[in-house]
This record gives sequence, structure tokens and C-alpha cells, in this order.
Amino acid sequence: MKAGEFVAVMGESGTGKSTLLNLIAGLETPDAGAIALAGQALGGLDDRALTLWRRHALGFVFQSFHILPHLSVGDNVALPLRLNGHRAPAAAKAASAMLERVGLAARAASMPSELSGGEMQRVAIARALVHQPLLVLADEPTGNLDPDNAARVLALLAKQVREQGAMCLMVTHSHQAALVADRVLRLADGCLIAA
Ligand SMILES: Nc1ncnc2c1ncn2[C@@H]1O[C@H](COP(=O)(O)OP(=O)(O)OP(=O)(O)O)[C@@H](O)[C@H]1O
Ligand SMILES: [Mg+2]
Repeated sequence: MKAGEFVAVMGESGTGKSTLLNLIAGLETPDAGAIALAGQALGGLDDRALTLWRRHALGFVFQSFHILPHLSVGDNVALPLRLNGHRAPAAAKAASAMLERVGLAARAASMPSELSGGEMQRVAIARALVHQPLLVLADEPTGNLDPDNAARVLALLAKQVREQGAMCLMVTHSHQAALVADRVLRLADGCLIAA
């Protein structure tokens, strides 16, 4: 992937798309081959180094949002910064700036249960980008959304990653969703090919 590139990965269910993202995130280790991101080879890192690297370099967006229900919207977005050692006031300030960028500035004090699915995924996008990661990994980010919300969330994801100059690797079943990408790949029989 090139710096700043948005790549979509498509493929049948069970072909290994989520596994591919887990490998890139260092959550699974490859039986063969090696993973490297921006010159950093993951194979040489121990668990602790891998965790630190993941917290700094990656953002995640999941189909089922994975917003922590017992934390406010603002605290969910601030979490990556807190895990990276930022103090609470600085993290809260950056989180509210990021929430503003996804159109949810007024919801920082809300609890996740008060949000719609589309709003929840916009919170997840804010959380995925607040610490300015190198790469955002998105696994079916619109899989649980109606078409209108899916379009809005995708446009927002693409705009925010592009504004930050981050890379994004998005798994999707949706040809419509793949249209936001710079490049579309197909995963089949363990190979990634241009779609
Ligand atoms: N933890 C695991 N242990 C063993 N096999 C697994 C594990 N996770 C996934 N698999 C298998 O690996 C293959 C690829 O799974 P993966 O979840 O990557 O597919 P996918 O392309 O993301 O599918 P979907 O589109 O349904 O999400 C499948 O055959 C699956 O059953
Ligand atoms: Mg999957």
C-alpha cells in the first residue's frame, strides 16, 4: 500500500479477509511470509513492543462498532490517546475536536446506548483516527447500517483518513462501499489480486 492510499478488499465469506486484517494488526502470526508496515517488520517485535506499535500505528473500525458501553462517547474517543500515555485533559480536548469532525460534537457526554448505529460508527471512526494512526483497518464497517447511514459513514471514513494522510484497508462485501477506495483487491484462494 502507498502512503495515504485507501484500499478495499472483497471476497467470499470465509476466504480470510478478517484473518488478513488480524495478520496485519499482529493479532495472528503468519505460518509463512512476513508482515511489514512502513518499514517496521512485525516478526521481530515481542508482545509488548507489538502492543505499543499497534496502539500508535493502527486504528480499527469493526462491523459491530465495539464501542465500550460503560464509557461516555468522549471517553471512548479519548481512549487510544489515554492508552498512549496522554493525560486526561489533553486526550479529552483532542477527542472533542475529533468528534466535531464526525459531526458529533454535542454528544461527547452521551452514553453509547443513546446513539443510533450510524452515530455509533461515526464515534468508532473518531476513535480510529484520534491518535493519527498510520493505517486504519476497517472490517465491514457498513455491514450493520442501512444504505443511507452506510453511505454517510463511508464518505466520512474516506474524508477523515484522506485529511489525515492515513492509509485505510477496508474489508467489504459491498460493491457500493468499495467505490470509495482508490484501489479494490479481491482475496481468493489465499491470493490478493486486482479486482
Ligand atoms: N480462530 C480461528 N481458528 C481456526 N480457523 C479460523 C479461525 N478464524 C477463522 N478461521 C477460518 O479461517 C477462514 C477464514 O476466516 P475469516 O474470518 O478470515 O474469513 P472472512 O473472509 O473474514 O469471512 P467473512 O466474510 O464471513 O467475515 C475460515 O475458513 C474460518 O473458518
Ligand atoms: Mg470477516
